[in-house]
Amino acid sequence: MDWNIIRQQFPITQNQTYLMNAAVSGMHERTLKVANEMLMKIAMKGAIADEDYFNLIVSSKDIAAQFVNAGPAEVVFTSNTSHNMNLLAMMLKDSGSKRKILVPDDEFPSSVIPWHHHGFEVIKIQSQKHVYSAYQFEEHITDDVAAIVISGIQYGTGFKMPIKEIVYIANKYSVPVILNATQQLGQSSVDLKELGVAAMSCSCHKWLGAGIGMALLYVNENFSKDKKWPFAGWVSVEEPWTLSIDKPQVRRDAGVLGTGSAPFINMAAIQEAMKVQMEIGKDRIEQRICELSQKLYQELTTLNYKVFTPRESKTFYSGIISFAHPEKEAIEIASLLKEQKVFINHRKGRMRASIHFYNNEDDIQALISGLRSL
Ligand SMILES: Cc1ncc(COP(=O)(O)O)c(C=O)c1O
Repeated sequence: MDWNIIRQQFPITQNQTYLMNAAVSGMHERTLKVANEMLMKIAMKGAIADEDYFNLIVSSKDIAAQFVNAGPAEVVFTSNTSHNMNLLAMMLKDSGSKRKILVPDDEFPSSVIPWHHHGFEVIKIQSQKHVYSAYQFEEHITDDVAAIVISGIQYGTGFKMPIKEIVYIANKYSVPVILNATQQLGQSSVDLKELGVAAMSCSCHKWLGAGIGMALLYVNENFSKDKKWPFAGWVSVEEPWTLSIDKPQVRRDAGVLGTGSAPFINMAAIQEAMKVQMEIGKDRIEQRICELSQKLYQELTTLNYKVFTPRESKTFYSGIISFAHPEKEAIEIASLLKEQKVFINHRKGRMRASIHFYNNEDDIQALISGLRSL
């Protein structure tokens, strides 16, 4: 695999050190081309291309299902993860009386705010130095726990959750596990059949590099079968073009949530971004990210910075590294690095560098020498 060639196919790598992939990743040139072509099609053909748009709904779901190893009937594209968590909260609220959810205490708000909004009590599970084990969740499972909601990779520290172990424990108590894979898909493989989670959401602008504005939702067939889909629209029926307004028989699958007209530009981009990654190889991508991030981690430990990302076990590894200067504010450091064209994020007072497979050793050295010079 020639990573240099692949790097050149990502315009975001040109003339700068881009290490903000956990916020928004760069798009592959093919993804960009497909998105532009779809924009042009909408502009130049409008409704003449209606059939293409509807075919895209089907083909993008097929590719997404393949990408995460799920059935096409279990996936649908929506606007974002916050939206998806609202949907799932509404489904659980409608179908039972349990009103507590368990979440990691450094979970991203999209996974949590919607549950507060729908009246669930949120129990925060404390980490041990940013590491979570399945048993920490088990200790808090009671009869009124409706779900465990976790990110597969924590947005702040980059800790990779022991999802399988958490699902195994949760199954013992018949508690569904809802996975936020936003920081995971595109950097670390997700096999939904193997994991056995009840539902999964992924905002596609991060590691998938698919542009901003769409999210993938997966709802396991067994989880959805005794629940009501909270939304429906004209595209939620088997034959939308009959344009019937009689009480409908809505589809039985997750496609119900497709409701109406979609951002086809994003949909085309996501489909292509997933194809690009599958061609490169998801395992290769993950290995490359872990190798590069380990280099950064090791370099950081030689500097006077405190590193928060737990790296005691390889099973924890991801492309996100979180660190702080003993005195200087993270926001100040990030803006000083910007002057050197090195781009990292700051989150909750810490710096976050996030490394994708199209980054390289020079990017890491640029960050390290930038940090040394401060
Ligand atoms: C773990 C995680 N989930 C979700 C999101 C985005 O959520 P939404 O799609 O609701 O904007 C982010 C970052 O923005 C994130 O880090």
